[in-house]
Amino acid sequence: MGKYDNAEMNDQTEVIRKLKDFIEGQGIILSGKYGCGKTYAIHALLHKLRRDRQKKHDDLMEGYKNKTVSWDDMNKSTFYSYEVEFIKANEMYRNIKNFDKQDGYVDSYKYAAMLVIDDLGAEYCPDSGFFQSIIDEIIDVRYELGRSTIISTNLSIVDFRNRYGGRITDRIKEWGWVYESKEDSLRGK
Ligand SMILES: Nc1ncnc2c1ncn2[C@@H]1O[C@H](COP(=O)(O)OP(=O)(O)OP(=O)(O)O)[C@@H](O)[C@H]1O
Ligand SMILES: [Mg+2]
Repeated sequence: MGKYDNAEMNDQTEVIRKLKDFIEGQGIILSGKYGCGKTYAIHALLHKLRRDRQKKHDDLMEGYKNKTVSWDDMNKSTFYSYEVEFIKANEMYRNIKNFDKQDGYVDSYKYAAMLVIDDLGAEYCPDSGFFQSIIDEIIDVRYELGRSTIISTNLSIVDFRNRYGGRITDRIKEWGWVYESKEDSLRGK
């Protein structure tokens, strides 16, 4: 049993209350101190979105059986093609720093229906310009396609902008939102 398998949108943290505003297709940044509940909240949201997709799919199937939904409309369900990439930034960096293999990884980060980059800023990357330009490229493609993108970070928004450049936060302000939680760590409470 994974730590976040039963995570629910339970209103207990600022980040969960804020994440209720998330709309599929947006790009958002959740910033906050270690332990304020970012990873928990994102898993809770992913569980909820999965249940919503399941329900929509079941309703379409039911409608098709009852002949109120056409074959064409039923086939528009994206249920089977919805791919979620949940990746920690340090693992992402390791996956793409290897030039031979990077294309497959970069494409899956660009085109997945939902991309979560957890803990962006925590990665150790000596050649940070290289990683930042790839992050920028991934975000730019997702912004143009309007695909759901969630970034969590321990960095303040100011530090985030200094590290990854203004282009990402600028796009996200139009495409979704940026939120900085001021809550302290829940660990050990
Ligand atoms: N809404 C919640 N309800 C119950 N427990 C929670 C909730 N949010 C967080 N927790 C618990 O609090 C602890 C810290 O949460 P989490 O791991 O999500 O923090 P984080 O912001 O991702 O921290 P870090 O930046 O260090 O990765 C975990 O043990 C988590 O299970
Ligand atoms: Mg976390």
